[in-house]
Amino acid sequence: MRSLIDILDLTVDEIETLIDTANDIIDNPAKYSEKCRGKKLATLFFEPSTRTRLSFEAAMYELGGNVLGFSEAQSSSAAKGESVADTAKTISCYADIIAMRHPKEGAPYVASLNASIPVINAGDGGHNHPTQTLTDLLTIRREKGKISDLTVGFCGDLKFGRTVHSLITALSRYNNIKIVLISPEELKLPSYVKKDVLDKNGIEYTETTSLEEAIPTLDILYMTRVQRERFFNEEDYLRLKDSYILEPSKLAHAKSDLCIMHPLPRVNEISVSIDNDPRACYFKQVLYGKYARMALILMLLEEAKK
Ligand code: NCD
Repeated sequence: MRSLIDILDLTVDEIETLIDTANDIIDNPAKYSEKCRGKKLATLFFEPSTRTRLSFEAAMYELGGNVLGFSEAQSSSAAKGESVADTAKTISCYADIIAMRHPKEGAPYVASLNASIPVINAGDGGHNHPTQTLTDLLTIRREKGKISDLTVGFCGDLKFGRTVHSLITALSRYNNIKIVLISPEELKLPSYVKKDVLDKNGIEYTETTSLEEAIPTLDILYMTRVQRERFFNEEDYLRLKDSYILEPSKLAHAKSDLCIMHPLPRVNEISVSIDNDPRACYFKQVLYGKYARMALILMLLEEAKK
């Protein structure tokens, strides 16, 4: 059974096809409005979410399907001690496809080994978030017209930010991508990502603590929130949370066609006064997330028939 746990579960060609489908859905929504009639998506969210869960649900409704699920661990039998494996077996009796978010790295993978329906990783701890990556790649293709020959800056919590890990992994398969890693010392990109992804694929990258210095070189600036829930103590979080705040003055030396992205939620790291700047792409990114997930649901349900 085909699932999506890691962005590398998809080939570059398959990602291109998903982006093409998402673009076609944007242009011709009526063509897709009955494609999942009679099908059910289960959203199993053991961690908070606004965009990911609701974009999955909106995606399934816009495909003519239905949705069931839970949005917190406490309201599921996990609170009674049920294993992820048993939950996956159970939900396979009720639904056609699962989107799962879990605080433990690897939990959606365990679910996929035990489910008889496709499982989509909707974020596992500080590890991966492949559907945000599809969203991000669709955004980059629409905003830049290509996913190549770009300098992409990642700023903020690069240690715990799962969206960062997945997007860097995805970008490492495209041509002439340069990466600039902007973070405090304590929140640098994990060395396993540097070694297994950047070094292995020969990707050119630099590390800096200065957003100001990096900004003029960037085609894309991917801002992230400091991931409070992954910290071991509150003092460290409070000390680091406002390390970077993107304000209009910081954009003075940015390229005029810079694309500012953020997976959201935003806490403080982008001033609201940037929201109306034409370079702010993060709310478009939210909308594209629904279309990327529609394309993915279609693909996995089609594969499940085989
Ligand atoms: C991200 C996540 O859950 O990892 N949010 C999202 O899905 N758009 C980013 C975050 O929580 O900071």
